[in-house]
Amino acid sequence: MSRRAAWALALSTGACAGLLTPARAADPAAPAYPQGAAPFQANCAVCHGPAGAGVPSLAPPLISYPAHYAASPEGRRQLAMTVLYGLFGDIVVDNKHYDFRMPDFARLDDATLAATLNFIVFDLGHAPASVKPVEPGEIAAERAHVVDGAAVREHRRSVVP
Ligand code: HEC
Repeated sequence: MSRRAAWALALSTGACAGLLTPARAADPAAPAYPQGAAPFQANCAVCHGPAGAGVPSLAPPLISYPAHYAASPEGRRQLAMTVLYGLFGDIVVDNKHYDFRMPDFARLDDATLAATLNFIVFDLGHAPASVKPVEPGEIAAERAHVVDGAAVREHRRSVVP
């Protein structure tokens, strides 16, 4: 094959993808909260899956309920409480039962937890723009009210869709 033909082949097969990198900045698939994507993949994906689709009878999906929670003050408290204190006991998500223990993540700082929740709410859950992003201060406020995973489940009753 001539050098010219090889070059044309490389272009047509996308072997020169590096040349296309600048166009990626406008990629609609790029996360709106990349600072939450990394902690999500590091801490949450092992149970909830890399796209938050959940694992049957182990961990629930995060692609619909969290976006609903984020639209109300008590729902936002619920999200903060869940990551700070975990969640324990039988719950129902999309008509399916989950009865296991979500560990607590109080060791992560407020900004990291807020960004992780925003990744779930906006990137995985596609909450509308009318929903305000979770602020680190909302996480800090819940640190002041220590509860356990059973109490987080009890509070959840008032916010489920
Ligand atoms: C060891 C597995 C595990 C890991 C790791 C984990 N979760 Fe969970 N998560 C669960 C389980 C199990 C539940 C449901 C608990 C129950 O059955 O009461 C849950 C529930 C939730 C809920 C509540 C969903 C609802 O509808 O109320 C949210 C939100 C959530 N997890 C977010 C996260 C985030 C964010 C992380 C990472 C920081 C994370 N989880 C890490 C297992 C896990």
